[in-house]
Amino acid sequence: CKDVGILAMDMYFPPTCVQQEALEVHDGASKGKYTIGLGQDCMAFCSEVEDVISMSLTVVKSLLEKYHIDPKLIGRLEVGSETVIDKSKSIKTWLMQIFEESGNTDIEGVDSSNACYGGTAALLNCVNWVESRCWDGRYGLVVCTDSAVYAEGPARPTGGAAAIAMLIGPNAPISFESKYRASHMAHVYDFYKPDLASEYPVVDGKLSQTCYLMALDSCYRQYCAKYEKLVGEKFSISDADYCVFHSPYNKLVQKSFARLYFNDFMRNCSSVDNDAKEKLQPFANLTSEESYQSRDLEKGSQQLAKHLYDIKVQPSTLLPKQIGNMYTASLYAALASVIYNKHASLSGQRIVMFSYGSGLTSTMFSFKLNEGQHPFSLTNIASVLDVTAKLESRHVTSPEKFIDTLKLMEHRYGAKDFETSKDISLLPPGTFYLTKVDSMYRRFYEKK
Ligand code: ACO
Repeated sequence: CKDVGILAMDMYFPPTCVQQEALEVHDGASKGKYTIGLGQDCMAFCSEVEDVISMSLTVVKSLLEKYHIDPKLIGRLEVGSETVIDKSKSIKTWLMQIFEESGNTDIEGVDSSNACYGGTAALLNCVNWVESRCWDGRYGLVVCTDSAVYAEGPARPTGGAAAIAMLIGPNAPISFESKYRASHMAHVYDFYKPDLASEYPVVDGKLSQTCYLMALDSCYRQYCAKYEKLVGEKFSISDADYCVFHSPYNKLVQKSFARLYFNDFMRNCSSVDNDAKEKLQPFANLTSEESYQSRDLEKGSQQLAKHLYDIKVQPSTLLPKQIGNMYTASLYAALASVIYNKHASLSGQRIVMFSYGSGLTSTMFSFKLNEGQHPFSLTNIASVLDVTAKLESRHVTSPEKFIDTLKLMEHRYGAKDFETSKDISLLPPGTFYLTKVDSMYRRFYEKK
């Protein structure tokens, strides 16, 4: 079948958030450290009645309703998440409640996990299924759901939370260019969660940044090589209308685009003008190791690429800057931002995506866009996403309240036999929420 890809998208994020400016003051960080240094505006977090299961229930139900999809028409459901609630029972099985109601239990797929990459693994599985001989003509559904929380320290402002659902099938407005996928996978300890009694990761922040950029370089080189082999022309960032990156925090996205620009300079591409070529020449002979450490190169290439960043990257940064790192959902929230901001002009354009999960796994791939047909049209996806209204209706809480919630959740993590406050006053109608965990660790949810 033709043009397999994303037919429909929906997104849910908690209505509770904390402002990075207020968090800077609360944490005693220097002014601008989180807002300019990390490039973040706001951070969403789950209150004690929400978690990755409730968010995914909410977003799946909402997608099926808003696009009028009969639950019987789903043949594969894949979840990407790195937020562990149960070491055996997949999040997918909780979502089956929605499908059991309609009598549909014939749905393949379970959860995929490797840091922020699980959503991409889930997406590739679904696309491969639709393109395979096993496909039975029904839709695939991909759900990315995560709550990113960090222990006190420099990583804490890089948290966030959200769930995204994507319907997969042929004749999609956001279709895969399957031939040009490129991956880079390796063994490193940059960010991992070895302590099963804690929700917080162990992070080597500096190493994780370098690993991310090395993985980006490697994927981009492979992507360009595959493109050139098939198309017979050199690929450069001029061939991408938008570049969408996994976004742990916006500064890393700025650095990433600058890195692609530097790659194009080293490959002598016309995307880099003569003036910029002259300015980058002093860095041409650095070893790749030296190039990751050079502050002058980092700052210089960011400045030189800024005019292109504003056009090709900035439209993807809306949701990640406002919500924070959503782990598996981050990359797809960035994609949703482009669709929301630019849907009227995307037809015929190409979006290059870069997915990164610590540990590490990474893939670069691309989409070709067309307007599609209602309800699976870019216009309708943008209207369902309804980003501005959702962001504007959020409730801004104080840093103190955010810290109190984290403390309570530390206590509740892995616990049994408790009831939540059931305070759902801030949740929009239709939102699922946690009511209790019984003495057998069984979790109970209700819908507002
Ligand atoms: N005004 C403006 N900028 C400032 C200010 C200020 N007052 N103070 C600091 N900065 C800048 C710094 O110069 C730096 O920017 P630069 O890199 O462009 O020079 C930036 O703010 C960050 O400050 P640092 O001191 O370098 O780093 P910090 O100790 O705050 O840690 C880090 C940042 C490593 C990102 C931390 O938040 C972290 O570990 N996060 C989690 C790991 C992560 O997200 N890794 C990314 C890939 S893996 C994943 O997705 C989970």
